[in-house]
Amino acid sequence: MKVPYALAVTSGTSALRVALAALEIKENDEIITQSFTFVATAEAIIESRAIPVITEIDKTLNMDPKDLEKKITDKTKAIIVVHMLGTPARLKQIKAIADQHDIPLIEDTAWGCGGYYNDIPLGTYGEIGTYSFDFAKTMTTGEGGMVVFKDKKLYDKAAAWHDHGHENNPEFPRWEDSRSSSGFNYRMNEMQGAVGLAQLKKLDFVVKEQRKNAKLIMDAISDLPVEMRFAPKGSYETADALVFLVKNNNIARKCRDALLEAGLGTKILPEAITWHFAGTWDHMPELVNRNGKDLTNAFPISLELLNRSVSLPISVNMIENFPQKIEKALGSAL
Ligand SMILES: Cc1ncc(COP(=O)(O)O)c(C=O)c1O
Repeated sequence: MKVPYALAVTSGTSALRVALAALEIKENDEIITQSFTFVATAEAIIESRAIPVITEIDKTLNMDPKDLEKKITDKTKAIIVVHMLGTPARLKQIKAIADQHDIPLIEDTAWGCGGYYNDIPLGTYGEIGTYSFDFAKTMTTGEGGMVVFKDKKLYDKAAAWHDHGHENNPEFPRWEDSRSSSGFNYRMNEMQGAVGLAQLKKLDFVVKEQRKNAKLIMDAISDLPVEMRFAPKGSYETADALVFLVKNNNIARKCRDALLEAGLGTKILPEAITWHFAGTWDHMPELVNRNGKDLTNAFPISLELLNRSVSLPISVNMIENFPQKIEKALGSAL
């Protein structure tokens, strides 16, 4: 990832938790993230005893920079932008806003491993980047994650915190390590590390093949009445999924049904919006307290966009004639 420091951890969720620990986030600090993400992003904030503040998304289906500006307060201590389903967020604008307010930017790159923005690897544009290597991600260690840093001080803090506070010094035995704070155990184990190294060699190939398959699908459905998700200029997407928008939720569901009938599936949208949209997380008092009881309608722009989005899963090995099959299924639904 062209950065000097990387720390292997147990999951993408713990990667976020460790990133927040490195920034010394305290109780009641506000951390801004976006409405469309996996529940893990908000969980890491809550686990840090901070308050999740949620922005709307735009047609990138990632953080809306205009809403980000509105949500910044004196209590904002970090911004977590997410490259959902492998498409880069509007990093240039978001980083400029973060810098203007002197707020560190974390990139939740759970879906963006192997992607780029203006030739910069996703996860390395901001101060800290986090990755997930769970079973559903572009590269996997079964479960696992990584945190990357440009700044040694942040790395050192994270390294100690993810290992019970051990300030590792190779010149001393482990029991003589110094400590400045408590921490936790989020260490990746050696066996996962070995799997990760083998996976890493395949990363560029996997992304390249997924992008090829995405292009074949895009070409096949180009005459259908769908609007492709917007990718900011300079994006090199991981193409884990291809997302398009239709007129309304009814039609999105029709697309899903037609795809299922043809032996194809969808990914997250529209069916699993529940775990990926903050408007449905009324089990989190931290969100309800901040946004009111009617959480569903607290992020109306996001709700409207997500309700009419369909996401096609893409892998290296797809079923035979998948572009034609997808085109036929969607054609009938639309
Ligand atoms: C955006 C996002 N952040 C964080 C995570 C958490 O990763 P993990 O499953 O490795 O804990 C995920 C997992 O799907 C994710 O999609």
